[in-house]
Amino acid sequence: MIRKAVIPAAGLGTRMLPITKAQPKEMVPVVHKPVIQYVVEEAYYAGIREILIITGKHKRAIEDHFDRSDVKKENKFLDELDKILEEVDIFFVRQKEQRGLGDAVRYAKGFVDNEPFALLLGDVITIPNCTRELMEVYKRYKTSIVAVEEVPKEKVSLYGVVSVKEIEDRVFVVEDLVEKPSIEEAPSNLAILGRYILSPEVFECIEKTEAGVGGEIQLTDALRILNKRERIYAYLFKGKRYDIGNKADWLLANIELALDDDDLGKHVREYIKSMIDR
Ligand code: UTP
Repeated sequence: MIRKAVIPAAGLGTRMLPITKAQPKEMVPVVHKPVIQYVVEEAYYAGIREILIITGKHKRAIEDHFDRSDVKKENKFLDELDKILEEVDIFFVRQKEQRGLGDAVRYAKGFVDNEPFALLLGDVITIPNCTRELMEVYKRYKTSIVAVEEVPKEKVSLYGVVSVKEIEDRVFVVEDLVEKPSIEEAPSNLAILGRYILSPEVFECIEKTEAGVGGEIQLTDALRILNKRERIYAYLFKGKRYDIGNKADWLLANIELALDDDDLGKHVREYIKSMIDR
């Protein structure tokens, strides 16, 4: 039912400087692969075969990464990507100015046309596959859904936050959404985590959205308008989500995914143990 995915990857990545001075943050490696490869694979394993990546200035490496590889060396991660690329069409569009996530999503209008679509932030990894879980919920409710996770109260001001009413285990009706609220203003500790299913009506809402926090066109503000026109649901994701756009999460993602890795896990575990015992 959801055939298309949109992956915004045009942000500046200032929190990752100087790593992102001359390379896109979406190309920052996490163990074996750049972040955005995890994101494309998530869309693919959720059953999506048409993907639009929104890029911008200094992001050309992303396009090169999704060409078929001409290296004739066996590598299971490269081979997996080549297999995916045989089945998936990847399109690119450039955001002309980095004016915020809401503005970036606006560039997907022509690609999406009049269908609901999945939106996956290009610097976020979810384990297990959050998009697949959202699509299951979408089948039942056929309305826009944002994935949320519980965050500590003192961290709410880093996220878009929702106020909700629970309708079944882990599924909520959204009553309101606020981008980066103060601790006092935050209506809950449920933070939007970077995975969405959205109705195409969102494009009209973005047009009506004025610059918000940080002078950027915020997607959360557009969703606030959408929520007045159509019902938005929230889904509580219980897995792991790593925001590779901040250094602490990026480091933790590397450690945790390396610990789970067939080849590296044993070495990393022994090394960490020896460090603790020292
Ligand atoms: P972030 O909130 O992480 O912003 O974007 P940023 O500008 O990339 O990074 P910092 O804050 O300077 O470190 C969340 C997602 O929205 C995309 C980013 O690429 C990322 O996937 N984005 C953000 C855009 O595509 N365009 C924008 O103008 C802003």
